[in-house]
Amino acid sequence: MTTYTVPHPPKPVVDRATLPPGPAELPIVGQSFQYVFNLLDFLHGAATYGDLVTLSVKPALVYMVNHPELIQELFVTNHRSVGRGRVTETLQYLMGYGLVTSDGPLHLRQRRLMQPQFHHRRIAAYAQTMTDFTRRHEANWRDGARVDLAGEMSELTLHIVVKTLFGLELPDTVRRIGAAFELSNDYIKARDNQPPALRRLFHRLPLPFTRRFKRGLAYLDETTYGLIEERRRSGLEGDDLLSMLLNVRDEEADNPANAVMTDQQVRDEAITLFAAGHETTAVALTWTWFLLATHPDIQARFHAELDDVLGRRSPTPDDLPKLAFTEQVLTESMRLYPPIWSTGRMTFEPITLGGYHIPAGATLVAPQLINQRDPRWYDDPLEFCPNRWTPEFRERLPRFAYYPFGGGPRLCIGEGFAWMEAMLVLATLGQKWAMRHDPSHRIELVPLVSLRPKGGMPMFLERRD
Ligand code: HEM
Repeated sequence: MTTYTVPHPPKPVVDRATLPPGPAELPIVGQSFQYVFNLLDFLHGAATYGDLVTLSVKPALVYMVNHPELIQELFVTNHRSVGRGRVTETLQYLMGYGLVTSDGPLHLRQRRLMQPQFHHRRIAAYAQTMTDFTRRHEANWRDGARVDLAGEMSELTLHIVVKTLFGLELPDTVRRIGAAFELSNDYIKARDNQPPALRRLFHRLPLPFTRRFKRGLAYLDETTYGLIEERRRSGLEGDDLLSMLLNVRDEEADNPANAVMTDQQVRDEAITLFAAGHETTAVALTWTWFLLATHPDIQARFHAELDDVLGRRSPTPDDLPKLAFTEQVLTESMRLYPPIWSTGRMTFEPITLGGYHIPAGATLVAPQLINQRDPRWYDDPLEFCPNRWTPEFRERLPRFAYYPFGGGPRLCIGEGFAWMEAMLVLATLGQKWAMRHDPSHRIELVPLVSLRPKGGMPMFLERRD
């Protein structure tokens, strides 16, 4: 049997004299307090120290990468020397060794097997589900109602992902899956902010929050393994992503038994796709509605394009290239509010970056939220300006000045899926509804795994004529 090993990075050996510049640090705690309690201001301040900055977040030493060329070197040129390593250690509690959390030969093999299934021709098959579920969702909306749009988008994308991934749509099952996922999200976010030794201890002890998390996880496992067993037993093929995972064959396997994924691997990949694809798209949609609602002239132009291209009929994938302004709106929204606000790597062997020696076992972060607001690449970087995305501007922009989906061989595998889903949901809802942000709500960012608005996103719904 072939075993696919996952490499483990060593502890870094650092020569302090050769570190890039960085903010001043306190003895013993370094900059950990600012990092945990005032993360965004801290990173904005740190970025002023240069294109490569040292952060001292005890016990780790973190390199922050702030220039598109250095990000390119990290994600693309050096891709063989870097991976996720311990950056995604807490996510493994939920995802096991799926695409997001694995490295080395295992990641390469899984990516090779799964990539063709995300070809745009294949994912176009999910378009109907996306628009149908959106129509079904908005059927419950009432003119003038005040809703939490963050919750609404989360529920909608949850239903879409559960249907396209597992083929399930029973409301109670979907709700239970969503609740289990929320529980694990909270747990992972809390553990992420802890020193690794404490986190591992908490994960082993029967503490109330650990037990709650494990109960939720048991439900997700039970549902996923149940579906896997049912599909294997019945031999019935669905047209969902789970079937894809069950049916994919590795032509390069050394023997037929190794050509299919094990149940555990299918489970890890299914939960990974579910977790990676659900909240990210919901967050992208939430921020886009917020930006439209607070820029009435842009919202009016968005509506005009939908009326012009679609009239009253539902959008299809063929319409998407014609919705050029809607695409600019979404592009600009993911620039200002990148759903994954920072993407990290860990070195498996030493690399050189921007003239600095980076040892093996080092953590590097390239925060989209900071770099996509860099005045070197964007005029009026804090302005919501979809019009900036002209073909000439795109041509001029360095590749890694805009990277909401990451890049290199670890580029988000669901990018095409996410674009299609977000565009179809925006178009379907925008045909019928205008949004007005509740001005009493103050916007605050919560930069955990994804970039959520604190306290949700209260919005008034206005039915369009
Ligand atoms: C707006 C929505 C989304 C955003 C902003 C987003 C963003 C990202 C980012 C930044 C990464 C890390 C890339 C890197 O390390 O270079 C990533 C990885 C990944 N995403 Fe997404 N994502 C979105 C939607 C989706 C969807 C819908 C799916 C699945 C259906 C998905 C599945 C994945 C997977 C499996 C990975 C790991 C890829 C690998 O390491 O090989 N994502 N995503």
